[in-house]
Amino acid sequence: MSLTIGVDVGGTKVAAGVVDEQGRILEKLRRPTPSTNPEETAEVISEVVQLLKKKHDKVGAVGLGAAGFVDESRSTVLFAPNLAWRDEPIKEKVERRVGLPVVVENDANTAAWAEAKFGAGRGDSHLVIITLGTGIGGGIIIDGKLYRGRYGIGAEFGHMRVVPDGRRCGCGNRGCWEQYASGNALAHEARDLARVEPHRAKRLLELAGGTFEAITGLVVTEAAREGDPAALECFQSVAEWTGQGMADLTATLDPGAFIIGGGLSAAGDLLLEPIKKTFSAQVTGHGYRTLADVRIAELGPDAGLVGAADLARD
Ligand code: BGC
Ligand code: NA
Ligand code: ZN
Repeated sequence: MSLTIGVDVGGTKVAAGVVDEQGRILEKLRRPTPSTNPEETAEVISEVVQLLKKKHDKVGAVGLGAAGFVDESRSTVLFAPNLAWRDEPIKEKVERRVGLPVVVENDANTAAWAEAKFGAGRGDSHLVIITLGTGIGGGIIIDGKLYRGRYGIGAEFGHMRVVPDGRRCGCGNRGCWEQYASGNALAHEARDLARVEPHRAKRLLELAGGTFEAITGLVVTEAAREGDPAALECFQSVAEWTGQGMADLTATLDPGAFIIGGGLSAAGDLLLEPIKKTFSAQVTGHGYRTLADVRIAELGPDAGLVGAADLARD
């Protein structure tokens, strides 16, 4: 099967592409994700797949990367903390509309697979990927294989509860890791700071056009690049929470490398350096073990769709 289509379905956008066996994208399309309607989402996914299929007749299968818990048969999104999907039989809905076999996989798992095969994890047999975006996505590669857990829902790192009675999470619990270490967490932190100490948040508010709500992860990143102390403090907080969680994951998984992906990873060294510092200081057995390498993902926003396309091959 020489060509497959990969689709990354996130909270804000549906990104689809035709991908070859080397992980190269031949053509790409994007649409906004319909906000709360699963039926419309299935419709948009099918529409982009059909458009691409028409132009590339060698396409043999479709892989969907979905931001939620996907069942072991890779057909149904059981639950999505940050999206409207509940027991959504997305495989069947898209197959019926496009007439190609469809495989569904968790979005962070697809990104992990792409980075392991074509990106920052090439050559490593034991990897952990952490995607920092709306939430935290997790992916585990063990002995070169994607680890899914018994029921397909392994590696949901974002919902490890790190703060007793902490911030509310879309999963229904409180204190989940993704509420403290993600793109959203960065924005949350900055809005908090701006409300309580507006005099320190001048630059953040300026870049956001004057309103607290408009302070996004991108705004904080821009201010931090300029050296704004308030923005850097928010990065420090998110990086410390991230490094702390990685130290905890290391106690269980002992990976050779961590790969940091997702929208926030575009911040590069602003994020990577403080993460590395906390991680190495907090890992158990510090000083007596080989530490996992920590790297920024290489495939950027395309990792999800490239991995989904590749996983649809087998
Ligand atoms: C979801 C994961 C998803 C991640 C990134 C989390 O909130 O539970 O399934 O991979 O967000 O999209
Ligand atoms: Na995952
Ligand atoms: Zn949660």
